[in-house]
Amino acid sequence: MNKFLRIFGSILLGFIGFQVVLRIFRRNLHFPAPPFITAALNSRFRERWQPPDVILERSRVTSGKKVLEVGCGGGFFLPAAARRVGANGKLYALDISPRMINIAQKYLFTRAPSHYESVDFINRSAYDLPFEDGALDVVYYIGSLMEIPQPAKALRVAYRVLKPGGTVSVTELLPDPDYPGVYRTAALLKATGYRIIDLSGNLFSYTVTGVKL
Ligand SMILES: C[S@@+](CC[C@H](N)C(=O)[O-])C[C@H]1O[C@@H](n2cnc3c(N)ncnc32)[C@H](O)[C@@H]1O
Repeated sequence: MNKFLRIFGSILLGFIGFQVVLRIFRRNLHFPAPPFITAALNSRFRERWQPPDVILERSRVTSGKKVLEVGCGGGFFLPAAARRVGANGKLYALDISPRMINIAQKYLFTRAPSHYESVDFINRSAYDLPFEDGALDVVYYIGSLMEIPQPAKALRVAYRVLKPGGTVSVTELLPDPDYPGVYRTAALLKATGYRIIDLSGNLFSYTVTGVKL
């Protein structure tokens, strides 16, 4: 028992120490996640830890909707999101990094080949969404909002492209070094004009959803 506690304590301390160092590093050096991180982001282990359908359900990604993922990275959520919106909906996947877009396209093709053609990939910044005002039903960010240097600016742009009644969802996941507390995320959404309609999940993976009034 003592040995078990020692091992558990060492792992916990190691994890906390690693988080502190990473967070200090990220606070001083802000850049988009490097593509090699997709080895972890797109892993089978993550499917159990953060099942895409659970997070997409919380994010209101449902059949027939026009949906945008901002900061799609290696595309971990795209196969499930494409299945969920179906033939009557439309899924857009945006990322600032061309290499991430490339990885996401390959991932989608491998995991959901029949949905590959239906997803539009957009290589742009989160501040530069190429949509008309009120064009979308859902905009969601998973582990990406706090990577964007001005998250409030990104949320205001998302507000413009959402329909009245459309939703924005922000999911944050540990051990992401940019992870903010749930109330900080909710305050950010409120400050940019959304009404909060749901806080769900737990400490390790939470989603805050707001609606455009
Ligand atoms: C940690 S990854 C998360 C990827 C994916 N959502 C997931 O959970 O697997 C964050 C992504 O946000 C993208 N990103 C960072 N800053 C961005 C910006 N200003 N505009 C658009 N995408 C951005 C990065 O290139 C990266 O692919």
